[in-house]
Amino acid sequence: MRLTVFGASGRTGRPLVEQALDRGHEVVAFVRSAPKFGVEADALTVVEGDAYTGEGVEEAVIGADAVVSVLGQTGDGPDDLLTVAGDHIVEAMTDAGVTRFVTLVGAGVREEGESVTLSGRVMGTLLKVLARSVLEDAEEHVRRVRSTDLDYTVVRAPRLVDGEGTGDYRAGDIDLGFESVARADVARFVLDCIEDERYVGAMPKVGAA
Ligand SMILES: NC(=O)c1ccc[n+]([C@@H]2O[C@H](COP(=O)([O-])OP(=O)(O)OC[C@H]3O[C@@H](n4cnc5c(N)ncnc54)[C@H](OP(=O)(O)O)[C@@H]3O)[C@@H](O)[C@H]2O)c1
Repeated sequence: MRLTVFGASGRTGRPLVEQALDRGHEVVAFVRSAPKFGVEADALTVVEGDAYTGEGVEEAVIGADAVVSVLGQTGDGPDDLLTVAGDHIVEAMTDAGVTRFVTLVGAGVREEGESVTLSGRVMGTLLKVLARSVLEDAEEHVRRVRSTDLDYTVVRAPRLVDGEGTGDYRAGDIDLGFESVARADVARFVLDCIEDERYVGAMPKVGAA
């Protein structure tokens, strides 16, 4: 498959690109700076651009079988990154006739009507206090993606940590509280979703195995 990865230079993006190449996929890595990304491989194409302005987004998406966003707000960046970049990605995908989209957000983004455990509610309250703009951006991004005709999957994760991970995960309608999950394991789940059309039109949560 040919996969376009937005946020390829990030802490989830890097293991995701690496694993996708290991699995034999062709990867288009969308980055702001190719020299800073510094990854080279025969099956890898690097497209430079800015997902917030939309520069380069169309070029990165044309010809893709699936598109992944593991974009994340950076220190001094805009607080509506996911919303605005998501709009550019959706528009480019629609123009290019690409339908499969997997996007990563925090587990604080709820699905209407879902039951939340006590620890999940406490975590949600903490997020609203400590990272309100990040949460609101992710919520708006998800709302817009779900209103499209795309074959989307919204992957929701708790606190992300670095490292190799366990090589496994649990996913679906699972309880997440104060736990953390390795970015590498989240990347595995994202790729599994793409490869077997799992969770199309759904918002699965992913946690440590
Ligand atoms: N942190 C957590 O504990 C946590 C928990 C659950 C879910 N999440 C979600 O998981 C996602 C990924 O998290 P992460 O920790 O892997 O992120 P990260 O390491 O901070 O990476 C963010 C990525 O977004 C890119 N980016 C930012 N602005 C951009 C722009 N305008 N154009 C193109 N690329 C841009 C960055 O590029 P540069 O390399 O150029 O900066 C980087 O590749 C985030 O959406 C976050 O909300 C995070």
